[in-house]
Amino acid sequence: MRSRPIIAIDGPAGAGKSTIARKIAAALNFVYIDTGAMYRALTLRLVRSKTDPSDVGAVRTILQAVRIGFDPSGKIFLDGEDVSGTLRTAEVNGMVSTVAGLPVVREYMQKLQREIGKEGGVVLDGRDIGSAVFPDAECKFYLDASLEERARRRMNDSKEQLFVNLEAIQQDIARRDAADSQREHSPLVRAEDAHYIDTTGMGPGMVVETMLEYIDQRSVR
Ligand code: CDP
Repeated sequence: MRSRPIIAIDGPAGAGKSTIARKIAAALNFVYIDTGAMYRALTLRLVRSKTDPSDVGAVRTILQAVRIGFDPSGKIFLDGEDVSGTLRTAEVNGMVSTVAGLPVVREYMQKLQREIGKEGGVVLDGRDIGSAVFPDAECKFYLDASLEERARRRMNDSKEQLFVNLEAIQQDIARRDAADSQREHSPLVRAEDAHYIDTTGMGPGMVVETMLEYIDQRSVR
């Protein structure tokens, strides 16, 4: 039995999950675990070693040796190197959903995530947290927004705003949504007991406020 609750936040690409999850964790004094960053870190490892994700044997060998972890400030480390700033490249975006669809990868990541979160007092965001990683989480959310708004938010996040194209971002998000929803192993689904919030037109402050109210109603803090 864990002594503190688990907050699960799932939803499609660019719904604002990581911004919101970080704020919720700060408000509750919980630890934030960005599970998307874990899949991205592994993908970066495959990109660097030019490993084809369809070569399951090679992926398995990498998984046996790779070390993926967080420090208390939320930075993500790949084999001891801080890779927090290098996980959102076009190359990683292009490959991450394929890597995340491999059963061997899902098994590895879900086990690691359960281990990191087992004591509770954590906020995890991803695609399968409330449905597969912690189906018994005390509080589950599903954050959504229109495709157009999600692409716009992503573009505003980008440091090279002038050089990225809204349509290309929209296509990348739509492609990943389709791959993440249609894969066989723990696809992106809205858990039946997840509180659904359509954040289209809502600023982050309002989303956080709505979620904290819901958390208080469920008296899990
Ligand atoms: O930030 P964004 O919503 O664009 O994506 P992310 O959370 O960084 O996740 C990147 C990719 O990792 C997703 O498109 C999924 O393919 C995969 N992922 C997953 O399969 N399961 C999770 N729990 C989290 C991410």
